[in-house]
Amino acid sequence: MEILHDTMAMQQRTLALRAAGKTISFVPTMGYLHAGHLSLLREGRARGDVLVLSIFVNPTQFGPNEDLDSYPRDMENDLALARSAGVDLVWAPLPKQVYPEGYATYVDVERLTDLLCGASRPGHFRGVTTIVCKLFNVVQPQVALFGQKDFQQLTVIRRMVTDLNIPVEIAGMPIVREADGLAMSSRNVYLSTEQRRQALVLSQSIMTAQRLARSGECDSSAILAVLRQKIEAESEARIDYLQICHQLTLEDQKRVDADSVLLLAVFIGKTRLIDNSFLL
Ligand code: PAF
Repeated sequence: MEILHDTMAMQQRTLALRAAGKTISFVPTMGYLHAGHLSLLREGRARGDVLVLSIFVNPTQFGPNEDLDSYPRDMENDLALARSAGVDLVWAPLPKQVYPEGYATYVDVERLTDLLCGASRPGHFRGVTTIVCKLFNVVQPQVALFGQKDFQQLTVIRRMVTDLNIPVEIAGMPIVREADGLAMSSRNVYLSTEQRRQALVLSQSIMTAQRLARSGECDSSAILAVLRQKIEAESEARIDYLQICHQLTLEDQKRVDADSVLLLAVFIGKTRLIDNSFLL
């Protein structure tokens, strides 16, 4: 496994691979790899001749009061996991290599980014689309794999790729969960034992909503009222948003149908967790 830090060196390497006719599959991450990332790497391994992983905690997608400095990092363990997952090439740049002095260009997807996480984390998606666009330009992948846990991120990236005619296939991969249902996230490490227990309210809310929808309840506000009560019963939980939205537009849906996705963001203590699922 080759590990590169320099941007130019990485781009030259991937351009040469493309010129040699290789298919590049790409998993972009902020590191602190868990089983969710490993499922992306497994799929990426199957889909390309060369599997590229990027590890970069992207400062532009964090707000001024967010956890950029404390975001969990463990490069040594990440590299060991990457090696065992069959990664060929790791790009792990420093922030000053990605955003050098004088940097002034950003990618902004409109509308979809004003909602949900975009409303509570202003500027977040501008940082995400900017870095993903830059990563694509450097890595030159034919296919890039993203987890569906960040459902809005996946929707926004698909919009960007379509709108900017970026020649890459975006593959969305199923959420990977702990045995008790908690969606895998690098931020789960912040939770105390009691918070970890209370965090189950997210996946349990999804199961409740699915049960209601599948037994014929199609009034979104009725489903959301049940969930709100359930989540608010947990002492450490504070709802950021709890919405039933159309899978493509992300706009609120009054009635549940096959396009409905339940999206939720809940603070458990100071840790903001997200989860989502189709309801039918
Ligand atoms: O999902 C993530 O880990 C990040 O948002 C991404 C896509 C790697 C961009 O920094």
